[in-house]
Amino acid sequence: MMLGGGEKRIEAQHERGKLTARERIDLLTEEGSFIEHQAFITGRSADFGLADKRHLGDGVVAGSARIGEKQVFLFSQDFTVLGGSLGEMHAERIAQVQELALKNGSPFIQINDSGGARIQEGVLSLHGYAKIFRNNTLSSGVIPQFSVILGPCAGGAVYSPAITDFVFMVDRVSNMYITGPDVIRAVTGENISHEELGGAEAHCEKSGVAHFRFDTETDCMEFIRKLLTYLPANNMEQPPVVDCGDPADRETPALETLIPGDDKKSYDVKEFIAEVFDQDSFIEVHADYAKNVVVGFARLAGRTVGIFANQPKVFAAALNIDASDKGARFLRFCDAFNIPIVSLADVPGFLPGVAQEHGGIIRHGAKILYAIAEATVPKVALIMRKAYGGAFICMASKALGFDRVLAYPTAQIAVMGPEGAANIIFRREIESAEDSETKRQEKIEEFRRSVMDPFTTAGYGYVDDIIEPRHTRIELIRSIEMNLRKREERPRKKHGNIPL
Ligand code: HXC
Repeated sequence: MMLGGGEKRIEAQHERGKLTARERIDLLTEEGSFIEHQAFITGRSADFGLADKRHLGDGVVAGSARIGEKQVFLFSQDFTVLGGSLGEMHAERIAQVQELALKNGSPFIQINDSGGARIQEGVLSLHGYAKIFRNNTLSSGVIPQFSVILGPCAGGAVYSPAITDFVFMVDRVSNMYITGPDVIRAVTGENISHEELGGAEAHCEKSGVAHFRFDTETDCMEFIRKLLTYLPANNMEQPPVVDCGDPADRETPALETLIPGDDKKSYDVKEFIAEVFDQDSFIEVHADYAKNVVVGFARLAGRTVGIFANQPKVFAAALNIDASDKGARFLRFCDAFNIPIVSLADVPGFLPGVAQEHGGIIRHGAKILYAIAEATVPKVALIMRKAYGGAFICMASKALGFDRVLAYPTAQIAVMGPEGAANIIFRREIESAEDSETKRQEKIEEFRRSVMDPFTTAGYGYVDDIIEPRHTRIELIRSIEMNLRKREERPRKKHGNIPL
């Protein structure tokens, strides 16, 4: 049982630079804490020679273990047994630990290394997958679910990870695709390798299917252990509070110069984040995908928060389709698991372009609005510089549901940028002026001074306070803490219909 498909196959697994199913569990969990579930299960099917290929455990190791303080449920597919393929009893084992995870309110971690549906078992395999997908769906928003792809994950098998909260991949080890290179070559004539098609780079940078990319399995497991310390075990618990050793009253004077006064100049919002949140506490999610927004977990005075920030370094921080999907999915995770949201706004609007319009930016951008409006966790926004148009509403609107909105004295809030606005509302005046360019500049300046001034917005009550950059950390901590006991009800419904 402990040797899966036997020593030869274990050797082959190692030669490919991969660990075995049990080695992976050992690496991820506390020593001696693993309790195996249904260890003696075996396949029942005898078709196509399977009667001679029965193994205890049926190609998957499943059970419960501790990671740090947390009890988790997990399974690890064993590629040395029939290529980790999923048959009836293999699926049954997985489904049982999924159900136990849900009943216990414990995080669920799946380690995928499998050739997909066990071909010999036909519809029994498909039935098993369907059960797993359903369990993933029922657990969504109740317990955190992680998918660690450490080998092939092909065909319909990819949909279980896709339903879970976070997908982890390792370079040269992980592959995910609906149809592999051979099928693609036969159908479309395109030539591509397994790694290029479905490796960690492809899914972390291009498709956005995966959230975290690593160089080795060991790095990956270490990271998962760390990430769990930021999260509650389930949706009924609060995230852990830790002693961060970073004073809550620490001033942040470096921010006085970090954001350039010239609003056409960019800066790295990650430097801003490093300065404000508890030292070294930022964990970026989806770091290589849609880099015009930065999302991730950090701590503020020891409490986990979810950061949703514009990144002026990329596309001048304009929101596009991919950034909307990335942001909305992260925001919904935070809301499901009682993690307060901190929005950092410096955004000129949504990205213009035919590709964006025809790609459905209307439908995708709406996801951010929906995610913020439906979230009932504490929501705090800081307008660092620009907040224009629909993007202002996404990032910092009290009407959408932010509990507290702060702004720097130099913030600019408007329906659109001053140039565009002046050209529209003063067009006739500019055109009829003797020196129309001087007039244009005059009007741009006039618009900037009046409508865009944060004190104007604060006068309407849509900004709660105007703060100095050096007080950013202090004010964000106060803003979150004052809202921690908040209760916000929503109309009863079966579920909403987020624009997908
Ligand atoms: C049964 C399988 C299997 C499968 C692999 N094996 N995949 N057995 N069902 N799906 C067996 C092989 O026969 C082999 O057994 C052993 O596992 C190792 O496989 P190899 O091919 O030798 O390994 P490797 O060269 O590393 O290739 C790995 C692989 C390849 C890329 C995953 O095996 C492969 O392409 N498998 C099929 C993938 C696939 O098309 N799956 C079905 C997808 S459709 P022996 O005894 O010879 O060593 C699907 C539908 C799900 O999953 C729908 C859910 C909604």
